[in-house]
Amino acid sequence: MDKIVVQGGATLSGELRVNGAKNAALLIQCAALLTSGKTTLRHLPLLSDVRTMSRLLARLGCRVTGERTLEIDSQDVGSGDLEAPYDLVKTMRASVTVMGPLLARYGKASVSLPGGCAIGARPIDQHLKGLKALGAEILLEHGYVHLKTKRLHGAAFVFDTVTVGGTQNVMMAAALAKGESRLENVAREPEVQELAQVLNKMGAKISGAGTSVIEIQGVEELVGVDHAILPDRIEAGTFAVGAAITGGDLLLRDAPVDHMHAVISKLEEAGVQCVVEPEGLRVHGPEQLQPIDAVTKPHPGFPTDMQAQFVVLASVASGRSMVTETIFENRFMHVPELQRMGADIHITGNTVVVRGVKKLSGATVMATDLRASASLILAGLVAKGTTEILRVYHLDRGYEAIEDKLSALGATIERRKGASS
Ligand code: UD1
Repeated sequence: MDKIVVQGGATLSGELRVNGAKNAALLIQCAALLTSGKTTLRHLPLLSDVRTMSRLLARLGCRVTGERTLEIDSQDVGSGDLEAPYDLVKTMRASVTVMGPLLARYGKASVSLPGGCAIGARPIDQHLKGLKALGAEILLEHGYVHLKTKRLHGAAFVFDTVTVGGTQNVMMAAALAKGESRLENVAREPEVQELAQVLNKMGAKISGAGTSVIEIQGVEELVGVDHAILPDRIEAGTFAVGAAITGGDLLLRDAPVDHMHAVISKLEEAGVQCVVEPEGLRVHGPEQLQPIDAVTKPHPGFPTDMQAQFVVLASVASGRSMVTETIFENRFMHVPELQRMGADIHITGNTVVVRGVKKLSGATVMATDLRASASLILAGLVAKGTTEILRVYHLDRGYEAIEDKLSALGATIERRKGASS
């Protein structure tokens, strides 16, 4: 397995073009299943999660070609068994969002239950409840959920909890259901909005995405589209933290600043200068970072996918910070690794209290999930000496060539191929 080796002490400076957003891409790939034609997606990030979704679509009968620009032809879907198998779902939970499209278009779907993952139990009860409200018959058997219906019908449904994937799954299903649906307490994430825009381009009638109520007038069919994926707010945020903690200066070209208000205001609270320029976001790190208080919330609140990176920022700020995680139950797996690098962090329930230290010290650490991996690289940038990050396959799920991008910005970082885990 590869590892990443970082020498601390560099200052990040220069420019970076932000990639297409992974989380938007995955769901829009799924949406191609709702059409009978060809969908072209542009600006895709080259990531293992995107490749996994392409493999799943191919298993379901789509013809999928390309990488950065992906063509998905769904014409031949429906002849084989419409199953998302365990080996794919276990590597990427977002696979469960093929349920809604398959059920709506073909009246059946079988999807492996995802089970737990490193950041918690992550149930899919809300996906299933929503699909049931639209008329799905659901059977749980042998670790799989089997869904069928003659034809989905519109319904009013209120989510018990705000879920991004659940909102997207049920919204896609309702797009082809008979009649009107009203979904309440939905997620307002930009990726929900972008998916709704793409569905509308396909011919759907969806309004309200970006608010907490989405209304959908079901249509008979959807057609393939050509769509360029919007830039990734989490990749932009991760590099912004990189500039902040190294006292650097970065221009994040195409950063989706309208979707980054919570992250930008948290950076400003830490004393980081953030300037919206015509080309993107300029981030200038201060000599000394100030402590922060952050609580993760559904969008437009502070995103859980930036929590680990801000714990690193807090680790080298001048005083006492508090970071509370309210979205996932077990998302502090990076903390013990950061403690091994000399960070002063105490976990109490779902809150960490961080007392900033002058310097972290390089160590060999283990990546546990996607954003935790990124946080360990950030920590390596500001640590004295060498940091080795093992199990970087997590990183490759969500950050394209992060070591090349960081080297181009001045970091001393390399990937060692095939090193032991
Ligand atoms: C998406 C993102 C992920 C991000 C997360 C929260 C993608 C591909 N992934 O994940 O990067 O961290 O949103 O912003 O877009 N829940 C239930 N029942 C359900 C579904 C969810 O209880 O049926 C709970 C989850 O356990 C979690 C919370 O709701 O505690 C939020 O999860 P959700 O918004 O669904 O996350 P994902 O869509 O899986």
